[in-house]
Amino acid sequence: MDSIVQASRYAVVTGASSGIGRELAAILAREGYALVLVARRTEPMQALAEQLKQAHGTQCVVVGADLGKPEGVATVVREVKERGLEVEVLVNNAGFGLAGKFEELPAEQQAGMIDLNVRALTVLTRELVPGMVARRRGYVLNVASSAAFQPGPLMAVYYASKAYVLSFSAALYDELRGQGVKVTALCPGYTETEFAARASEHQRSRLFSGPLGRGDARQVAEQGYRALRRGKPVVVPGLMNRLGAWFAPLTPLPVLLRITRHFNSGES
Ligand SMILES: NC(=O)c1ccc[n+]([C@@H]2O[C@H](COP(=O)([O-])OP(=O)(O)OC[C@H]3O[C@@H](n4cnc5c(N)ncnc54)[C@H](OP(=O)(O)O)[C@@H]3O)[C@@H](O)[C@H]2O)c1
Repeated sequence: MDSIVQASRYAVVTGASSGIGRELAAILAREGYALVLVARRTEPMQALAEQLKQAHGTQCVVVGADLGKPEGVATVVREVKERGLEVEVLVNNAGFGLAGKFEELPAEQQAGMIDLNVRALTVLTRELVPGMVARRRGYVLNVASSAAFQPGPLMAVYYASKAYVLSFSAALYDELRGQGVKVTALCPGYTETEFAARASEHQRSRLFSGPLGRGDARQVAEQGYRALRRGKPVVVPGLMNRLGAWFAPLTPLPVLLRITRHFNSGES
C-alpha cells in the first residue's frame, strides 16, 4: 500500500543534472518521492536515476529540455500532463549567473538568464500550482540566492532575477496560505557547484574565491528541504549569508553598492 501511495507522489526538479538540484533530487528520492528530472544534459540525470533506483527504488522520468526556451518549458508540462502525474513538489532550481559589465555581456545571454531564472520558474509554477490547490497539498521550492537581498553591480541582471524569485515566492507563500500549498525561497550564498565556472565565462568575480565561505551543495539542499517541510517562506543557509540578508535593507544604498561591487569585481 505504502509503495503504491508513494509512487503516485511526484516531485519535479529542474536543474537536476548537477549541483544543488541534483542534491535536492536525491533528498526527495530518499523521502519517498518519484521524480521528474529536468535539465538539458540527460546523461548525468540518467546516471542519477539509476543510482536512486538502486538506493531507494525511485521511479524517475528524465526530461531533456532547455528551459530557457518556451518550447522547453512546454515539453515538461506536456510530459507531466500526458503521463497524468500528480505533482506534489515543484523545485524550480535551474538557473545561472553571469559576471561582468552590463553593457559588455552578450545581450542574448542576459536575456537567456531572465528566460530561465524568471520566466521558466514562473510559467512552471503557474502550470503546476492549480493541481496542488485542487488536491489541497503541495510544495514549491524556488531557488533564489543571497543575491536577492541587494542590487549587484557587475552581476546586475543575475541579482535582479533573484530579487524577482524572492519577491514572487514570498507573495505566493502568502496567497496560497490556508490552501494546503507551501512556498519557500531558498537563498544560498556561494556554493561549490558548476555555477561559478559558468558565471565566470566573461569575468571571474572575487566572490568565487570564497572570501565569504563556500556552501556545500548537499547541506544547502537539506536546509532547503527542511524549510519547505516546515512551511518557512525564506531560508538563507549559512550564518554569514543570514547576516548579509539581515543587514542589507538597513545599509545605506551607496555603501551596499560599494560592498557588493567589491565582491563582484574581478580578482587582481
Ligand atoms: N552555486 C552558487 O553559488 C549559488 C548561489 C546562490 C544561488 N544559486 C542558484 O542555485 C541554482 C542551482 O545552481 P547550482 O549552483 O547548482 O549550479 P549548477 O551546478 O550550474 O546547476 C545548474 C543546473 O541548472 C541547469 N540548467 C542550466 N541552464 C539550463 C537550461 N537552459 N535549461 C534547463 N536546465 C538548465 C543545469 O543543467 P544543464 O546544464 O544540464 O542544462 C544544472 O542542472 C541556480 O538557480 C543558481 O542561481 C547558486
